[in-house]
Amino acid sequence: MRSNIKGKIILALDVPDISGARRLLNRIGNRLKIIKIGPVLFTAYGPKVVEMVRAKGTDVFLDLKFHDIPNTVANAVRQAVRLRVKMLTLHTEGGEEMLKAAAEAARQEAARLKVKKPLLLGITVLTSDQGSAGTRATVISRARLAKDCRLDGIVCSALEAAAVRRVCGKGFVIVTPGIRPGSAEAGDQKRVATAEAAFAAGADYIVVGRPILEAQDPVAAIQNIIEGCCNVTGDRYGRPDQGIA
Ligand code: C5P
Repeated sequence: MRSNIKGKIILALDVPDISGARRLLNRIGNRLKIIKIGPVLFTAYGPKVVEMVRAKGTDVFLDLKFHDIPNTVANAVRQAVRLRVKMLTLHTEGGEEMLKAAAEAARQEAARLKVKKPLLLGITVLTSDQGSAGTRATVISRARLAKDCRLDGIVCSALEAAAVRRVCGKGFVIVTPGIRPGSAEAGDQKRVATAEAAFAAGADYIVVGRPILEAQDPVAAIQNIIEGCCNVTGDRYGRPDQGIA
């Protein structure tokens, strides 16, 4: 069960330099299976940082939130497939034509290279957005759009995860950032929840950055999140029916 939950907690590697990133990953060892690389490290180091993470035996979630004209996004997605990332993000606000072009590009490029297609995840409403009465409806309509355009899932806050699950069904991947253990600072995040609450709401994966990165002992912070989820969930995360490995 612990190994299942380990595969569902994604570390946001939001650190400024690659040597610090490498040191942190060495400390963490095999405790987590997916590492998220965002624009901070990727802008500085490009594919080198993806290779560094993959060389440690962990999968890469490339979170560059593509949002551009369809042709540009499709070509960027092809490049991401070549990097063998496990997941990547694009903004649902880019619209139907952009999302469909991205999904088709990912399928074609993965087939051409005979590699597993990355999971394409649509950003709905950022978790740093305060939210309003209409936020849930916006997230749901963007999730529907993502599904109709053959994306694999979406990113939303834990507060909307249950509603998205109801509307989009079991096989649709839900990733929730904005995770804060009870005691942690929210920082710029607004629509936050604990890891346990996010999984209970139906998230397949959670993304955690600062609560681990800024902890005095990042390994203990990871262990605490894993233990907390295992205590609450019983065997919920041992079930293979979440549609993801
Ligand atoms: O440090 P913290 O736990 O807030 O990090 C959350 C991570 O998830 C950041 O890397 C951020 O870019 C990302 N993210 C987010 N909200 C989204 C999509 C991605 O916070 N909707």
